[in-house]
Amino acid sequence: MTEQSTAASPTRPRTRKAVIPAAGLGTRFLPATKAMPKEMLPVVDRPAIEYVVAEAVSAGLGDVLMITGRNKRALEDHFDRHPALEQVLEAKGDTKRIDLIRASDLVGDIHYVRQGEALGLGHAVGCARRHVGDEPFAVLLGDDLIGEDEGLLARMIDVQHRLGGSVIALMEVPEDAVSAYGVAAVAPVDGEDDDVVAVTSLVEKPARGDAPSNLAIIGRYVLAPQVFEVLERTAPGRGGEIQLTDALQTLAAGEGEGFGVHAVVFRGRRYDTGDKLGYLQAVVELGVRHPELGGDLREWLKGFAAGL
Ligand code: UTP
Repeated sequence: MTEQSTAASPTRPRTRKAVIPAAGLGTRFLPATKAMPKEMLPVVDRPAIEYVVAEAVSAGLGDVLMITGRNKRALEDHFDRHPALEQVLEAKGDTKRIDLIRASDLVGDIHYVRQGEALGLGHAVGCARRHVGDEPFAVLLGDDLIGEDEGLLARMIDVQHRLGGSVIALMEVPEDAVSAYGVAAVAPVDGEDDDVVAVTSLVEKPARGDAPSNLAIIGRYVLAPQVFEVLERTAPGRGGEIQLTDALQTLAAGEGEGFGVHAVVFRGRRYDTGDKLGYLQAVVELGVRHPELGGDLREWLKGFAAGL
């Protein structure tokens, strides 16, 4: 058992800001992502990134910084107002669709910074340093969808506030899938529920036999601001990219203010929309759960599956 690092501190700042890296090249999803960021791919009736921004806002993070790349235009336009479209819908009295497009009018609450070159997730997070400053912050990967009723991010923010350091999210994956993820070695923590563990070490995309567990890192983090200094000193790792996992390994192995990493083990719904199969699964599952389309889609799917 590891000791809980520090008791809840009334002086420890609470996480207020969300950083959403969306500057990756999306090579797994070519050719769809040649001219469009994968975060803009529609999942049922909205782009993937809208679910992620909604998750941040519903966890109480009203300040969102998006890390964009050369395709930033579509992302910015989506979260901006569209007066010409509103006028057309108003003229038709189509208030329902006006409400739908206004749901993503978050202009002012979303900030953008550009990552000039896709040098890796660690480098993308480092681009947030000036905006975030000296306080803990959340990172939500723009292509990773978490079920909206799961409360994962709020739980992670709470754990970070009580225990300090950084908090990552882990999920059990089949052993033949570990080499696609960052993988953690963990230990129990006294006084915590069994979904909260201490992270003792991390390795990015290990070969199957070298993985310390089948607990894979998924795309939600609550990070101590000390991660920025560590990232500056982190050399390119696997794939020649600056890996966030390598910086987290340094934080997990070190001691002092802002060091130490805990994890919340997540057992809910999660979809990797940056992967072609994960994307199709997200569309089908969220389609079946959709309040208007769900019933008809479910009926059609039953007939379709019966004929397979
Ligand atoms: P991925 O590992 O999915 O990489 O990035 P990728 O380049 O986007 O996609 P593939 O693997 O080539 O298909 C994880 C997250 O980190 C962001 C991505 O946008 C995604 O949300 N990212 C990655 C950046 O913002 N910048 C980078 O340099 C790399």
